[in-house]
Amino acid sequence: MSLAEVLASHRVVVTVGSGGVGKTTSAAALAVHAAMQGRRVLCLTIDPARRLANSLGLSEMTSSEQEVPRELFEAAGLELRGSLAAMMLDTKKTFDTLVANLAKSPEARDRILNNEIYKYVSGSLAGTQEYMAMEKLFEVRKDPQWDLVVLDTPPTANALDFLDAPERLVGAIDSPATRWFVQAYESSQKGAFGALLSKGASMLLNGLSKFTGADFLKQIAEFIAGLNELFGGFREHAEEVSAALRSPDVAFLVVTSPHPLAVREAMFFSDKLKDAGMRRDGVIVNQVHQLLPEPKASDEELAQILAPHLPEGTEPGDAVARMMQALEDERMRAVADRVETDRLRHHLGPSVRMVEVPALEADVHDIQSLAEVSRYLTGEATSAL
Ligand SMILES: Nc1ncnc2c1ncn2[C@@H]1O[C@H](COP(=O)(O)OP(=O)(O)OP(=O)(O)O)[C@@H](O)[C@H]1O
Ligand SMILES: [Mg+2]
Repeated sequence: MSLAEVLASHRVVVTVGSGGVGKTTSAAALAVHAAMQGRRVLCLTIDPARRLANSLGLSEMTSSEQEVPRELFEAAGLELRGSLAAMMLDTKKTFDTLVANLAKSPEARDRILNNEIYKYVSGSLAGTQEYMAMEKLFEVRKDPQWDLVVLDTPPTANALDFLDAPERLVGAIDSPATRWFVQAYESSQKGAFGALLSKGASMLLNGLSKFTGADFLKQIAEFIAGLNELFGGFREHAEEVSAALRSPDVAFLVVTSPHPLAVREAMFFSDKLKDAGMRRDGVIVNQVHQLLPEPKASDEELAQILAPHLPEGTEPGDAVARMMQALEDERMRAVADRVETDRLRHHLGPSVRMVEVPALEADVHDIQSLAEVSRYLTGEATSAL
């Protein structure tokens, strides 16, 4: 299945991969393509990058949806048959909504939402961002406003974090340590709770925040107790989210660069998807350097051509030597990228769709370049060599 077909036949398309490889760019480019094809698309990104917002004709990304102006497409000579909206994922807001939906009473809800520890961790705890991206996926998947939601994801040191996110968050709440903590707290509600902990642990906890010892511990205990109260609902819900990730209307695209470390990560992630019994809908190798041809002219001829354009005092022979060195470096990079891309191709086997996007000369900074990237993604264009 080509990526164009993946876009046409799914309700949700998720881009995953390690840091800086082009997840956000790919997600936006795919959203642009699908919208041009006539679908009503929501591009849900993690990235507050102004450049991405500007590429979509918006002054900034916000956590509520914004319609990408049709004129932007028209001005670029692109036909928009559907529609495109963009929105930024707000981890804390998503967590708040989840708490509100699961809490059994308004009081229980407010106890958590107003808890200082909750306020601190809900936006920043390791793993919450991944989980909330999946949570949001679950939420928007059923929204009849959209034919397609393209979900960008945060950079994960380990791309697997995504698949396990629901289970891991449940595990963190339901660990023996947190259970001990809650029991200790509850059995000493009126007593000196702090005395239960060693002096060292108290000092460590104190060091973690601006709160004074006793208050900090109380806040932690209340936070855990509060989450524990939601826990039954939370576990069930996380299972639903987990199942949604595996449903046939959700496609996963692994994005990587040809950098050896990124390729290794992409192989690992792809294997994990396979082991988990999930389809691998495609692998995108982004920013592949192209093999530039060697000049046909001799060094002497090049020096002659260059001479009139050089600043005074520059030796044409030196300039040519430096140019040739730069060209050689670029060619070496292209060869290295080819080797890595072929290695990945071989590892994935013939059943997994792999597409390449060349490293463009400039950053992807407008709708034109997003559309250009999308042409490589969907196979309308292929790299030069
Ligand atoms: N094919 C390309 N050619 C040139 N520049 C590109 C290409 N793809 C992406 N870029 C640029 O590379 C940078 C990183 O891309 P992007 O933000 O999409 O990566 P990411 O995987 O989302 O990063 P992060 O992990 O930080 O979220 C951006 O400045 C983008 O414009
Ligand atoms: Mg990104």
